[in-house]
Amino acid sequence: MRKLLLDLQERSYNITIGQNLLNRSDLVSGYCEGDKVLILTNKVVAPLFLDKIRTSLPDKNVFEFVIADGEAEKNLANYEAILDYLIRNQFRRNDTLIALGGGVVGDLGGFIAASYQRGMGLIQVPTTLLSQVDSSVGGKTAVNHPLGKNMIGAFYQPKGVIIDTDTLATLPEREFISGLAEVSKYAFLGEKRIQQILEQNVEDILAREPNVLEELIELSCAKKAAVVTDDEKEAGARALLNLGHTFGHAIEKITQYTTYLHGEAVAIGTHMAINLSISKSLIDQQTASRYRSIMNSIGLPAVANAEVKLLDMLESMKLDKKNQTDKYRLILPKDEGCEIVEQELTGELEKAISSQLSL
Ligand code: NAD
Ligand code: GLY
Repeated sequence: MRKLLLDLQERSYNITIGQNLLNRSDLVSGYCEGDKVLILTNKVVAPLFLDKIRTSLPDKNVFEFVIADGEAEKNLANYEAILDYLIRNQFRRNDTLIALGGGVVGDLGGFIAASYQRGMGLIQVPTTLLSQVDSSVGGKTAVNHPLGKNMIGAFYQPKGVIIDTDTLATLPEREFISGLAEVSKYAFLGEKRIQQILEQNVEDILAREPNVLEELIELSCAKKAAVVTDDEKEAGARALLNLGHTFGHAIEKITQYTTYLHGEAVAIGTHMAINLSISKSLIDQQTASRYRSIMNSIGLPAVANAEVKLLDMLESMKLDKKNQTDKYRLILPKDEGCEIVEQELTGELEKAISSQLSL
């Protein structure tokens, strides 16, 4: 078992990573202050892990709320329905919500916990690779609005994050590979050990060898925790965690969130960012090729399908939450780490995008 501290003074918390953790009553119950616990999960995850976590809460009054599966469930209707359920069951502020599932359940559950009585206890129990290396850590919570993804939310830190790597055994292959896109992001942000593991152990990773996965998850969470500690509310450097995301979010939106998983779109977006870095001489060809090889060897896509058009990309990217002016605020990889660039609409940007589009 590995333990990391995310250091935010009075809002600090542990991230525990290991096998067979859902059964650990000391761990799960230990974070729950009040008498009541609501386990929020979905229809796919509930039959797999709900009973396990329930038995780890022997002294608590446990409630459960199971939503349908999919990104569309991260909506205001579920937000309201779950708040309604908490009020009807007389939950108090010191009671706890456990978000058991992927990033959808984690983001929705986090936002409910942030706003119920101005903030109740929250434990993140992520069960996808993406949520284990990214969304469960750092306190970004949100629901989607019909006009935009993650448009309504709050920064709200959990009391603890419990990452049981056994849960990854049932994760579909495509979801697993999509999660690896976020792991490779940390390598491109300068985490040399992650880069080394991705370059030297790809077979073990794809075979989900537990020790390799544990190390990758620990290194990823440590990097994320360090960035969040320095810039919790994204006043500056936290934006670096969005490498590939401005392009990727546009690809997801244009394809109506049905063609690409998040990590797949981010990988294509990272290739676009690399193209722009090359044209600005921020990165040399050799480093760029290494980064591209890492994504290719994992099995991530590099080129978007013909549905994705340049003008739609440029239009959609204008709405990115990071933008502070009329320019595009982009994260670009360098030979060492990444940098934030204010980018005008120029031919070099158009070329960087077009090179990864199908004709
Ligand atoms: P998800 O929650 O939809 O999970 C992906 C799929 O895997 C779903 O079908 C889910 O039911 C299933 N699943 C979950 N655990 C499983 C398991 N152990 N075995 C089998 N199936 C399992 O998607 P995700 O990729 O985990 O997260 C994506 C969401 O995370 C998006 O809404 C995105 O906006 C958000 N996100 C948030 C942050 C943040 O910092 N808060 C960061 C990145 C992404
Ligand atoms: N996933 C990006 C962040 O948490 O800031």
